[in-house]
Amino acid sequence: MSSSRFLATFLFVSVVFATGSQAAVFSRISQKAACPVVTTKPDFDYIPYAGLWYEIERFENVFQQGTSCERAIYEEISTGVVSVLNTAVLADGTLTNITGSATAISPEEPGHLIVSFPGRPDGDYLVLDTDYTNYASVYSCGTAGAFVLEYAWLLGREQTMTQEIMDLALSKYTQFGVDVSTFQMTTQGPTCEYFPEYPFPPASN
Ligand SMILES: *[C@@H]1O[C@H](CO)[C@@H](O)[C@H](O)[C@H]1NC(C)=O
Repeated sequence: MSSSRFLATFLFVSVVFATGSQAAVFSRISQKAACPVVTTKPDFDYIPYAGLWYEIERFENVFQQGTSCERAIYEEISTGVVSVLNTAVLADGTLTNITGSATAISPEEPGHLIVSFPGRPDGDYLVLDTDYTNYASVYSCGTAGAFVLEYAWLLGREQTMTQEIMDLALSKYTQFGVDVSTFQMTTQGPTCEYFPEYPFPPASN
């Protein structure tokens, strides 16, 4: 297909499946037959999962590059519902954020959340595994016609991740046949501007 038609299709499926770690969309698009069958962490508990996470790796996306310093802050709003605040720095240095919520949909599958952002279709947020204190291997996959669109957010509690933890977190994808070879590292660390301050400072009057 022509590249402009491909781009149009890509943008369409991006909108459909923008479960959105960020304002920008990072995904892997391929013409595989179907999404891999994955299972989520069976005893997932969103309480110790809450707080601040840094995006360490994600699927590369040739269409939108240049955002960095991605973070996610999760806080319980009510039973089974957490707020989601995603922040990032755009290529031109602009700070960007998006707020939404994530809801556990079934007690039988506590690691399967549905993420909602205003003005966007809801999306799956599948916690394949996490140890709560070092890493979380998060995944989402959808199909649109002949396309399979995968999202992956390998999250860490720190701005850097040891190779040992990285290998463990990656194995949570590869065990289900997810191809992690096109994961790319997210820029984190001293070159980043991190906002807001977290833990949130107490409100002042
Ligand atoms: C998020 O962005 C909005 C404007 O787009 C801004 O008003 C708000 O302060 C930002 N929040 C944070 C935490 O940066």
